[in-house]
Amino acid sequence: MRAVTLTAHGRPPELLDRADPAPGPGELLVAVTAVPITPLDLLCASGTSYFGAPALPYVPGVQAVGVVREGPAKLVGRRVWFPTTAGMAPGDGGLAELAVAAEAECVAIDADLADTAVAALGLSAVAAWEVLEGRAALRPGETVLVLGAGGVVGQVALQAARLLGAGRVVAAARSDDALHRATALGADAVVDLRDDATTLTERLRDACHGHADVVVDPLAGFPGTAAVPVLGEGGRLVNLGSSAGAALSVDSAALRSRSAAVLGYTNNALTDHRRREVFGTVLDHAAHGRIEVSHDVVPLEGAPAAWDAVSRGTASRRVVVSPLADR
Ligand SMILES: NC(=O)c1ccc[n+]([C@@H]2O[C@H](COP(=O)([O-])OP(=O)(O)OC[C@H]3O[C@@H](n4cnc5c(N)ncnc54)[C@H](OP(=O)(O)O)[C@@H]3O)[C@@H](O)[C@H]2O)c1
Repeated sequence: MRAVTLTAHGRPPELLDRADPAPGPGELLVAVTAVPITPLDLLCASGTSYFGAPALPYVPGVQAVGVVREGPAKLVGRRVWFPTTAGMAPGDGGLAELAVAAEAECVAIDADLADTAVAALGLSAVAAWEVLEGRAALRPGETVLVLGAGGVVGQVALQAARLLGAGRVVAAARSDDALHRATALGADAVVDLRDDATTLTERLRDACHGHADVVVDPLAGFPGTAAVPVLGEGGRLVNLGSSAGAALSVDSAALRSRSAAVLGYTNNALTDHRRREVFGTVLDHAAHGRIEVSHDVVPLEGAPAAWDAVSRGTASRRVVVSPLADR
């Protein structure tokens, strides 16, 4: 099979011919149809993640969509989404024509949605939804501020906030594309992260009409720090990423004066059942046009160049690699 293969940490992968993978007990062989290139893939491949430097060579791709080729008869021919531990533990991921998936972790896809759209949503969409519904326990009418609104987490969070009954929804992002997209996705106000950082808290507060009840923070760094004082009485900031910086400073008075909370979130804490449930909800909304994320589809042979573009920050949308696009 052809497989996108990482042969050096921190360098783009290569497309190589590799032996077909062999599923073990409890595993399925899947013909891959769509794989997103995500921040987690790049982080693991850099060799600097908290999982440690992965042994080389390996096939990246921490999640993928495909059709079951080998496994229990009831599953053969089924369309599934599946996670892998590529880059986090020994073994290969989804960026290949064939991949091995743990049967217990597969999510059967029934929604009437293209495989590439399912892949573009993936775990980022699950996280966005669960941050709001689960971790922040969003209540109807609350004001939600979404940082990094141009990313997949951000785009889904804007739409999920509305679907979960938020009152005012505010988007903060750092590109014209992202700001326009956020408005098109229904944000009531947008804040440009490129403007004067010293006035960011004030601008976020104005856009939120005084305070935010919930902040979705995939960025940390200066935007996350600026958002903490915007939290209102009982407000919750949920941090789930560090795209803008490794640290987030918390102003003590801002926190204690309003009994506000700064919370962390990871998909790794989800049970298989809850992940399946949230994914099903998101895919159902997507199939009915209520959730969408912008993405580009590239063939397997374009994956190394696309990976390079994502790692250089020149890809403006989620890249989804589709082995079907080569044919
Ligand atoms: N904890 C979890 O379970 C979990 C799950 C999914 C994702 N995440 C994390 O959440 C974050 C977002 O994921 P994603 O899938 O939405 O990724 P993404 O689609 O690549 O989005 C990243 C966003 O961050 C913005 N950004 C990057 N550097 C920035 C900076 N210095 N200042 C301001 N904005 C910056 C990007 O803006 P541009 O578009 O302008 O570059 C983009 O909007 C990542 O850190 C990811 O690892 C965590």
